[in-house]
Amino acid sequence: MPSEIILIAAVTVDGFIARHSNEITTWTKDLSLFKKQTMGYPIIMGSNTKKTITNELKGRDIIVVKRNDRPRDVLKNISSKKCFIVGGGKTYSRFYPFLTDIYITPHPQIFGEGVSLFSDKVKSSKLRFVNLVEVSKQVGIYQYQYKIIKP
Ligand SMILES: NC(=O)c1ccc[n+]([C@@H]2O[C@H](COP(=O)([O-])OP(=O)(O)OC[C@H]3O[C@@H](n4cnc5c(N)ncnc54)[C@H](OP(=O)(O)O)[C@@H]3O)[C@@H](O)[C@H]2O)c1
Repeated sequence: MPSEIILIAAVTVDGFIARHSNEITTWTKDLSLFKKQTMGYPIIMGSNTKKTITNELKGRDIIVVKRNDRPRDVLKNISSKKCFIVGGGKTYSRFYPFLTDIYITPHPQIFGEGVSLFSDKVKSSKLRFVNLVEVSKQVGIYQYQYKIIKP
């Protein structure tokens, strides 16, 4: 199992990752940062997210999970020390108990409704701030990196 299991997501200010489950994400501004950070590491995504991906994700092992895949078993089969959970809301929720880090990039948008970061109920956790990465100072977009403090 990797020692770093990192959730990476772009969210609106009201906590949504998409307007609906089939939305092709065009509103995010952090794709080049996403590419840089995930390059060379396995990335785990749900089947809905796989369907919405239009660009190739070269240089990364893409693991697409289905409902019968157990998150613990998926992670146990990864030999790399780091992997990324790249969405969507259902997959973030299912892998939540195993996360060590969260890289989250709030965007200056409000959707009002849509797919929440965690579409299923998750337990509360405290986060410890680690780092801030600038995406666009002009537009006010920064990635916040946190460690999850396990209770
Ligand atoms: N803003 C961002 O950073 C970001 C990142 C990634 C994705 N997204 C967006 O997120 C949206 C997709 O999110 P999503 O939450 O709908 O889907 P998802 O997490 O990508 O895929 C759904 C997953 O949940 C599983 N599942 C479905 N029903 C289940 C059940 N009853 N019990 C257990 N597992 C179940 C599915 O398995 P089966 O294949 O067996 O159905 C699949 O693995 C898309 O619009 C995408 O663009 C945004």
